[in-house]
Amino acid sequence: MSDSHSLTDEPTDATDDTAPGETIDDTTPSIQETPERDTVIEAKDLTVHYGDVEALKPVNVRLPERKVTAIIGPSGCGKSTFLRCINRMNDMVDAARIGGELRYRGTNVYGGDVDPVALRRRIGMVFQKPNPFPKSIYDNVAYGLKIQGYDGDIDERVEEALRGAALWDEVKDQLDESGLDLSGGQQQRLCIARAIAPDPEVILMDEPASALDPVATAKVEDLIDELAESYTVIIVTHNMQQAARISDKTAVFLTGGRLVEFGDTNRIFENPENQRVEDYITGKFG
Ligand SMILES: Nc1ncnc2c1ncn2[C@@H]1O[C@H](COP(=O)(O)OP(=O)(O)OP(=O)(O)O)[C@@H](O)[C@H]1O
Ligand SMILES: [Mg+2]
Repeated sequence: MSDSHSLTDEPTDATDDTAPGETIDDTTPSIQETPERDTVIEAKDLTVHYGDVEALKPVNVRLPERKVTAIIGPSGCGKSTFLRCINRMNDMVDAARIGGELRYRGTNVYGGDVDPVALRRRIGMVFQKPNPFPKSIYDNVAYGLKIQGYDGDIDERVEEALRGAALWDEVKDQLDESGLDLSGGQQQRLCIARAIAPDPEVILMDEPASALDPVATAKVEDLIDELAESYTVIIVTHNMQQAARISDKTAVFLTGGRLVEFGDTNRIFENPENQRVEDYITGKFG
């Protein structure tokens, strides 16, 4: 799509925003884990408060492109809060106060001239509970394209998105029927089709399979694997086996909103650096 990485109405070259050789405040031990050239999302001393509650302590991390990054940790440790910072969904939460920077391709998304709507076209989101619009299957996918004034062939794009979400074969003869009449697992894949229709670069998922049965969960997991060939996927999950199965990188948050470890999923699960991470992963708490 033509809007590329531009997040503002002004022509900007977002990818050149970071000075070469810029130093990073290395407060997370593995901040250098992802080379700068592969980085899509970068948090720099990112904090979130809800009123007096400190939900995220300064987070410093770089998330790589075209990989699946899993975000794990016990309930209330700030996983959803962190995810929602990435495409500014926390804007909708009145009490939320964000500090530091969250960079997408080098641009601080909290910079004054970033348009959150344009940002969310580049960084789509899928929620825990499938939430199709009360509209036809076709319109669920086409709606966003229409309101953004998509000038390509909408039928073609709807088909591509439904194929991309591994749903096309199941729904191609019932595109006019309500999205709400699909099964839970199909509804979630419809929501994934809706998220990929505007051709985003990043897809955020907050426990996308936790409301699904095992068969539907397996389909969504397979799909995430395929999506990572074209997209950067950042997924919150409570299910550690799922994180181990589907992700390339894992970020572990622990109580108090602290990102305590980030690295290759295999390493995190087999040989974590942090004792509390090991305790969490082996089920000693959380
Ligand atoms: N809208 C809000 N207003 C006030 N406090 C909030 C709000 N949303 C989250 N919090 C608090 O911020 C902290 C982090 O919450 P968050 O939802 O990010 O955790 P989580 O890791 O996603 O938990 P879960 O695994 O249960 O989904 C918690 O202490 C929570 O109570
Ligand atoms: Mg959550």
